[in-house]
Amino acid sequence: MDEKVPLEQKTEQSSKTIEALYREERRFEPSPAFRHHAVVSDPSIYEKAAADPEGFWAEQAEHLHWYKKWEQVRKWDPPWAQWFVGGKLNVSYNCLDRHVETWRRNKAAIIWEGEPGEERVLTYGDLYREVNKFANVLKHLGVRRGDRVAIYLPMIPELPIAMLACARLGALHTVVFGGFSPESLRGRINDAEAKVLITSDGGYRRGTVVPLKQNADEAVKECPSIRDVVVVRRVGEAAKIHFQEGRDHWWHTLMKDAALYCPPEEMDAEDPLYTLYTSGTTAKPKGILHTTGGYLVGVAATHRWVFDIREEDVYWCTADIGWVTGHSYIVYGPLANGTTSLMYEGSPDWPAKDRFWQIIEKYRVTILYTAPTAIRSFMGWGDQFPAQHDLTSLRLLGTVGEPINPEAWMWYHDHIGGKRCPIVDTWWQTETGMILISPLPGLTTTKPGSATRPLPGIEADIVDEQGQSVPLGGGGYLVLKGPWPAMLRTIYKDPDRYVSTYFGRYGPKVYFTGDGAKRDTEGYFWLMGRVDDVMNVSGHRISTTEVESALVNHPSVAEAAVIGKAHSIKGQAISAFVTLRAGVATSKEKVDELKRHVQEKIGALARPEDIFFTAELPKTRSGKIMRRLLRDVAEGRALGDTTTLADPAVVARLREQYGEESGA
Ligand code: WTA
Repeated sequence: MDEKVPLEQKTEQSSKTIEALYREERRFEPSPAFRHHAVVSDPSIYEKAAADPEGFWAEQAEHLHWYKKWEQVRKWDPPWAQWFVGGKLNVSYNCLDRHVETWRRNKAAIIWEGEPGEERVLTYGDLYREVNKFANVLKHLGVRRGDRVAIYLPMIPELPIAMLACARLGALHTVVFGGFSPESLRGRINDAEAKVLITSDGGYRRGTVVPLKQNADEAVKECPSIRDVVVVRRVGEAAKIHFQEGRDHWWHTLMKDAALYCPPEEMDAEDPLYTLYTSGTTAKPKGILHTTGGYLVGVAATHRWVFDIREEDVYWCTADIGWVTGHSYIVYGPLANGTTSLMYEGSPDWPAKDRFWQIIEKYRVTILYTAPTAIRSFMGWGDQFPAQHDLTSLRLLGTVGEPINPEAWMWYHDHIGGKRCPIVDTWWQTETGMILISPLPGLTTTKPGSATRPLPGIEADIVDEQGQSVPLGGGGYLVLKGPWPAMLRTIYKDPDRYVSTYFGRYGPKVYFTGDGAKRDTEGYFWLMGRVDDVMNVSGHRISTTEVESALVNHPSVAEAAVIGKAHSIKGQAISAFVTLRAGVATSKEKVDELKRHVQEKIGALARPEDIFFTAELPKTRSGKIMRRLLRDVAEGRALGDTTTLADPAVVARLREQYGEESGA
């Protein structure tokens, strides 16, 4: 069970922002033209879904191809859910075969732009052929229904190809973000017990080569389940790689002789589709398990409604496929809907800070889905970069991953959306699989900073410590009542942790999200961030415990406490308070060494922004670390100038001042 954090603490921390939000009086209505053409334009959809949720979701499921129809729409045996019970389908069939039987065979499925500027367009016909061939490659390597395949690739078309090939065979994929370290990759491969790893010789990031194959070699040294490693050639000569005879194979060599057709497996609706690891409140990431039928119904429907998908759209979600946003809204949702998706390999500021706007102009992108942290960076870089480009093709904007502050929302609206595009602020999680709280762009009046209200068919509520619903105008914990099709089914190999993490707080019928939220008098939801030990750094979930255990693993460190401090661009930044072992001297070099150590253990995304040395960690009498004090110190409230913290006695003295106040 996650440790409880008193709500007041969270509320107090964000009270200023919330007050500001409550003064937010700007309203944005969808234009009559947008409303007129919108996929969802009938407001009765909410009442219809609430009155008959099963009928509502069954109707959504009819959009897909089923080998055999379900016998029961949902079975809710709290906290265990099943959807479309008895139904049979294949995800890759739904994303490909269905479309190639129509004119969409020659429609672009993926428009890919490499960081150095190469272009590749794969039609649905091309993608179908590549996926079939690669499914045969995997089969040849002995991959069968139910097996696990790990994928550690940059943002290149081979990544969705590999995922869909797994789905075709009924094998589970575990995609690991390319920014993770060898050790993180190893932990995930071993938990999943993957047979095959798919990687590349390297990837490009801001013009430099990320040594993915070297990392993979390092990881696989201690992965007894891995029998074969398939390597995509992406950077060629620039990557110094070693090939292990018998284990390593080039992707292009294996593909040369692969047969053009691989029959899709008829999967049960409840058969697993994939696991994706995410940080929780403990040091060990959780393997979130998603299944076939409900997941695809959920992501296809929400992608269609929230992004108002039309046949002619060029849709661009800027996430990395290594995160759930990429799984649901680059791969499965868009392809199930026959959408043309743009996929960009690199960084938004390479070779220049107008790269995104250049791409939008070049491909006439109509829908852009990105993260608030990116928007805040763009704001910081200046209005001149978007102003240099024709962005008039855009008609809809989206955000995801963290709360968006009204200033960033307004900047996005004015400078990217040309004041004409609706913005959908979408709240969801790796666990929810699909968007749950968001405007419907043709219906909802938006307010900058609010994700507005739960989607049709979704029952979200805000409750107090006791689980009582908080009246309008109040704040508390965001919970979900009742199941939804794309919800996680369990944590891989750890059903007890599934129960305790999500259903331990308010009983088996109420899913606890870990987020704090307020609801205004009109019923709009305002998300306030995590209330547990999970940080949100540039939209990435990182657990404080995970970083703490990386730190204490270093021989110089006796004890460590990590907090997320407010950061104007990243949302939160990692601050670590470290007590060194006796005899170890504090120094600037030690700070760098410890930062590097965390980066090596977890990945660059977990590298602390600052490290403070302290003779002891401030604790309550019951031994709990006073995180609020640490946050005040890190954010400069307790001390003014935090550089004075070089004196390791400072935190101890502060603790005296704070008395025995608790802070979880
Ligand atoms: C946060 C990403 C506010 C939230 C899809 C959640 C958000 C966590 C929003 C999940 C949003 C995501 N407004 N907060 N629109 N979207 N979050 O699993 O704290 O990487 O619990 O999934 O991100 O992060 P995850």
